[in-house]
Amino acid sequence: MTTLGVIGGTGWLGGALLRPALAKGFVAAADLVLSSRSGNRAGFEAWPDVRFTTDNAELAARSDIIILSVRPEDVGALDLDLSGKLIISVMARLPAAALTARFKSEHIIRAMPNACAEQGLSFTPWFSTPGITAADADFADGFFACSGRAVRVSTESELDYFTALTGSGPAFIAAFADVMIRDAIKNGVAPDVADIAVRQLFLGAGTWLAGASETPADTVRIFTDYGGTTAAGLTAMLLADITGPISKGLAAATEKAAKG
Ligand SMILES: NC(=O)c1ccc[n+]([C@@H]2O[C@H](COP(=O)([O-])OP(=O)(O)OC[C@H]3O[C@@H](n4cnc5c(N)ncnc54)[C@H](OP(=O)(O)O)[C@@H]3O)[C@@H](O)[C@H]2O)c1
Repeated sequence: MTTLGVIGGTGWLGGALLRPALAKGFVAAADLVLSSRSGNRAGFEAWPDVRFTTDNAELAARSDIIILSVRPEDVGALDLDLSGKLIISVMARLPAAALTARFKSEHIIRAMPNACAEQGLSFTPWFSTPGITAADADFADGFFACSGRAVRVSTESELDYFTALTGSGPAFIAAFADVMIRDAIKNGVAPDVADIAVRQLFLGAGTWLAGASETPADTVRIFTDYGGTTAAGLTAMLLADITGPISKGLAAATEKAAKG
C-alpha cells in the first residue's frame, strides 16, 4: 500500500488538492500523513483516519510519496533526506534541480495547480525528471485529475510559463472582475448588485467558453462582425491596447516563476 505524506498539507493549496482526492477515494485517509508547523488539523474532520504530525522526519519515514506544499520561502527550513522517494512539488519558483540537490532524490515531479482546485476546476500542468516510473506518472495524473484537468508538459520552462498563466490566472481574472465592479459602481450601480452581476457574468462566460465549439478568438470576431454595442466596446478596448498590459503581466509573472 502506498502512503502519501504532504508537507504543508493543511495549508490552502494542500487542503484544496487533498479533499477532492479523499472524496473521490483516490487517496485513502488511512494512507495519508499531513504535516504543518502549528499542528493545524482544520479541514479534514470528515476523514478521522488521516494522520497529522509536526515532525517532517516522521512523515518522511512513513511515506512512499511526498508532496511538498510549503511556501517557497519556507523550504529552507526543511532538512530531509528523501533519497529513493518520489517528490511531488507544487511550489512555484523551485526548479527540479534545486529539489534534487536539497532532498537527494532524482525522482521529481513539479506540478502547478491553481486556486480552483477545491471546486475540481484547476488546470494542473505537471513536469517530471527522467527518473520517474510509469506508476509515478499514473499517480500524478490521477491525483491532480481529482481536482481538475491534469496535463503533462515536457519542459520545465513550460511549467514556469503556466505558473504565470494558469497558476496565477485566477487572481488575474479577479483583477479584471474588480475593474468591472468598480466601473459599475462609478456608473451608479449599487455595490452589492455590481458584485452579483459581475460574479454571474464570469460564471456564465466561463461556462460558455469552456463548452463552446468556437475558440475565444472566433467569439471576439463574431461579436465584432455583428457590429452592435459589444463591437463598440471591443473595438475601444483593443484600440486602447488591452492586449499589451495582459502580455506584460504574464511576462512579469513568468520571470518571477523562472528566476525566483
Ligand atoms: N494557493 C495557491 O493558489 C497556489 C497555487 C499554485 C501553487 N501554490 C504553491 O503552493 C505552496 C503552498 O501555498 P499555500 O497557498 O497553500 O500556502 P499556505 O496556505 O501558507 O500553506 C503552507 C503550509 O505550509 C506549512 N508549513 C510551512 N513550513 C512548514 C514546515 N517546516 N513543516 C511543515 N509544514 C510547514 C504551513 O503550516 P502552518 O500553517 O502550521 O505554519 C502551511 O500549512 C506554495 O509553494 C505556492 O507556491 C499555491
